[in-house]
Amino acid sequence: MKILVTGANGMLGQDLCPILEKNGYEVIKTDVDNLDITNSAMVDSVLSAEKPDFVVHCAAYTNVDKAEEDYDTAHKINALGTENLAKFCGTNDIPILYISTDYVFNGNGTKPYQPSDKTEPLNKYGLTKWEGEQAVQKYCKKFYICRTSWLYGIHGKNFVETMLSFAAKPELKVVNDQIGCPTWTVELSNAIVKILKEKPYGIYHTCGSGITSWFGFAKKIFELAGITVNLNPCTTDEFPRPAKRPAYSVMNNDEICRDWQEALADYIRLYH
Ligand SMILES: NC(=O)c1ccc[n+]([C@@H]2O[C@H](COP(=O)([O-])OP(=O)(O)OC[C@H]3O[C@@H](n4cnc5c(N)ncnc54)[C@H](OP(=O)(O)O)[C@@H]3O)[C@@H](O)[C@H]2O)c1
Repeated sequence: MKILVTGANGMLGQDLCPILEKNGYEVIKTDVDNLDITNSAMVDSVLSAEKPDFVVHCAAYTNVDKAEEDYDTAHKINALGTENLAKFCGTNDIPILYISTDYVFNGNGTKPYQPSDKTEPLNKYGLTKWEGEQAVQKYCKKFYICRTSWLYGIHGKNFVETMLSFAAKPELKVVNDQIGCPTWTVELSNAIVKILKEKPYGIYHTCGSGITSWFGFAKKIFELAGITVNLNPCTTDEFPRPAKRPAYSVMNNDEICRDWQEALADYIRLYH
């Protein structure tokens, strides 16, 4: 089976493509230089020429804070770019898997979000990813939407590497009142393979199992890396950012990914 991957040079794409190949799929790697998803003519011509059996759509505008002041660009890529792909896939009966986010929820929940729960994005990035979800559902009959969260991987700027780069600071304060599910890109890639092979079309939550706060996540990173730091919890109010973050970002993943601590231990062992 031939799978076309968008955003193949991104943090997820660079882990996902070799994992798809290892599982026997032929992979067409695309990114903005050879398939700019905002260019509908390019989407039509590249997909017509490549004739994929499946599209896994990872490309996105992912700068959450910048999206607050640059909604137009985020919307163009995440909403209209996804619509271009969804229209082609729907018309040509090609199934599509769209990577989405926990930021489609408002974070006021008190129990893990189910895939069917009401969506209400809190920030502009979340809104544009939600608009992408709407386009996929509008134009495609054969689709997967995989919502992930707190993603980290060796091929991109991420929380784990940022924390480790701060290790020498005299004091480190990390937010303790936002709760979520850290997810390693390799875990997510394995979940994508499992979904492609075993699951019916629909919406899935593909995040690490278990929950923690950003402070708990940081504490575990340093513990696993064997580094002693002066790490203290703080509140979101003490660390204001342009984009609002959901306080409770826990999704029910139906155990499709391992416990976040097990995955993080593998990541630290592999790279540190
Ligand atoms: N990172 C997270 O914490 C997180 C959390 C939840 C969900 N997600 C979702 O997970 C997916 C993968 O995220 P990631 O962290 O791997 O993102 P990433 O590292 O930013 O990768 C996205 C890729 O898409 C490319 N791209 C941007 N505009 C494009 C366009 N017009 N046409 C084609 N490609 C374009 C980017 O190229 P440039 O680098 O040149 O712009 C980049 O290579 C995204 O859908 C994201 O929304 C991420």
